[in-house]
Amino acid sequence: MGRDVIVACDFSSAEATLSFLDKFKGRKPFCKIGMELYYAEGPEIVRQIKARGHKIFLDLKLHDIPNTVKKAMAVLSRLDVDICNLHAAGTSAMMRAALEGLTRPDGTRPLLIAVTQLTSTDQESMERDLLIKEPIDKVVMHYAECAKLAGLDGVVCSPLEAAVVHERCGREFLTVTPGVRFADGDAGDQRRVMTPAEAKRVGSDYIVVGRPITAAADPVAAYERCCEEFIG
Ligand code: C5P
Repeated sequence: MGRDVIVACDFSSAEATLSFLDKFKGRKPFCKIGMELYYAEGPEIVRQIKARGHKIFLDLKLHDIPNTVKKAMAVLSRLDVDICNLHAAGTSAMMRAALEGLTRPDGTRPLLIAVTQLTSTDQESMERDLLIKEPIDKVVMHYAECAKLAGLDGVVCSPLEAAVVHERCGREFLTVTPGVRFADGDAGDQRRVMTPAEAKRVGSDYIVVGRPITAAADPVAAYERCCEEFIG
């Protein structure tokens, strides 16, 4: 899979999601299904979107004991999604177990990427609540390297971290980056943002874009603008 734009389908029902996707007519954007939609509609929404011909990033961010994550990943691998994820904070043992669970009997599996520190976590909350005293950039890179060593395919990170992740973990290690906004758009609650063109320049492999597309007056035009800037 090459560079691509992933649309965050942050809707609360199948109806809202499918009528949004209907707007795209012949085009089949790569879709991210997160907790809100998955918990509202269950695995059936994944099957429905898949059956319409979209690639799917199932963003459920698993984090539990290795045995539980392994078994949950085995269930998710049967949904035939393209990318799944977990929290690197679950440790290397959990990440290795996840990979084992995700791998089908024929050796194939969806890509598996790790969340390092959430972008909502800052230095202060990490020190106060998690008792992690190292600089947050160092923590993020350490988690990325642990994910790489455990055999994962990449990380979710800020586009501002993409270049360093590639430097440390290799060009093949995927960077999937939310926090993308058009130059003339509203950043909303995203703090550290980049445009699709800047994300391309720093080497992001996939950008995850939600509201700049889902809340646009013309979502298809916004999606096409993203593709043009990031891929074209
Ligand atoms: O609407 P917006 O473009 O901000 O959506 C970004 C998507 O990426 C949302 O689904 C959000 O949950 C997700 N995400 C993020 N930052 C992270 C991890 C995931 O914004 N660090």
